[in-house]
Amino acid sequence: MTSVGVIGGGQLARMMIPAAINLGINLRVFAEAEDSSARLAASTVGDFTNAKQLLAFAQTVDVVTFDHEHVPLGNLALLVSEGISVFPPPAALALTHDKTVMRAKLAELGIPQPRWAVVGEESAQELDRVGGFPCVAKLPVGGYDGKGVRVVHSWQDIKDWLPLGPVLLEELVAFKRELSQVGARRPSGEWVSWPLVETHQEGGVCSVVVSPAPDITQIQTYDAESIAERIAAECDVVGVLAVEMFEDHDGQILVNELAMRPHNSGHVLTEQSVTSQFEQHLRAVTDMPLGSTAPRQPTGVMANIFGGAPIEKWAAVSAQFPEVKFHSYQKAYRPGRKAGHIVVTGENTTELLAMVEQARDMFKGEEPWEKPLG
Ligand SMILES: Nc1ncnc2c1ncn2[C@@H]1O[C@H](COP(=O)(O)OP(=O)(O)OP(=O)(O)O)[C@@H](O)[C@H]1O
Ligand SMILES: [Mg+2]
Repeated sequence: MTSVGVIGGGQLARMMIPAAINLGINLRVFAEAEDSSARLAASTVGDFTNAKQLLAFAQTVDVVTFDHEHVPLGNLALLVSEGISVFPPPAALALTHDKTVMRAKLAELGIPQPRWAVVGEESAQELDRVGGFPCVAKLPVGGYDGKGVRVVHSWQDIKDWLPLGPVLLEELVAFKRELSQVGARRPSGEWVSWPLVETHQEGGVCSVVVSPAPDITQIQTYDAESIAERIAAECDVVGVLAVEMFEDHDGQILVNELAMRPHNSGHVLTEQSVTSQFEQHLRAVTDMPLGSTAPRQPTGVMANIFGGAPIEKWAAVSAQFPEVKFHSYQKAYRPGRKAGHIVVTGENTTELLAMVEQARDMFKGEEPWEKPLG
């Protein structure tokens, strides 16, 4: 039996568990805490920044992959030097580690993206490269769910970030909507993608995904697929790759950022596609033929549930909406934290969106969402 080791015990690792069971893969998770979302498959609870602990874990599996991109690259280099298969390879993962490295690589590949610059405490002239204020500032390392992303109107707005090190500035894209292209690549180079999806963000955090993205032109389909396939091939990505994109008002596609693991924008595929992104990721990292990405239903809508304890509200939701599928992450309560998601599939996107909105309202708690983008 092939064993796959996942670093990180979040909901992405958790949702790999049923896929691994079906594929006959022995899934082992290196979790951060006893109560991690993926605790059912945790074989180690430890600190992923500790190289010794990580190596001991990696030596018990055939291939190492990820639930998040925060593992120090030096630790991954150590695993590779010890002969351990790490997918995606550290050189590819490095692009998702640091947003300035990603921007530079996309520029080298000539892939369309927002104008950008890297600034320090004394680099005012760089501001011209993004068209001045207002613009978007991002902490290059460690951001997620919009944390580490701000719309800034003056240097004062990033006064607290500048002493920490370089800050990435991007032009504030007046996008028409946000899209995501998800696909997967095997070590042999085989690449398979799903239809492009549309993502809705609230306060910088993904809240709703519509699959496939409505009203997409053939040119956009071609552009999005070829951008993702090219990034996967040029960067030697193995596993699932999600490319977050903006569609501007001229219909052009610009790359926002990359994720080299199953991604929030792909959750809808578990119900809507023949092959889920979790199954595909495991197939890819174990170098098995990739599954069909044909739709099982013409359309699907996913909504994230924020806050906590959604399991208690689930009974009421399921009584009213038996067609809604629920995925609980079983995480401790924290305001604004992703606690689960719901999916409905069918024929009519407008009807599905309305149903998901109603179901989601039944889960909503008292706490306001964190809104990093003003
Ligand atoms: N240059 C930009 N122009 C306009 N809006 C932007 C820009 N960059 C980011 N945003 C908005 O902020 C959101 C979060 O940004 P980004 O994806 O870089 O951050 P993140 O915290 O890494 O996100 P994730 O939740 O995907 O990990 C984007 O989905 C988009 O809505
Ligand atoms: Mg993002």
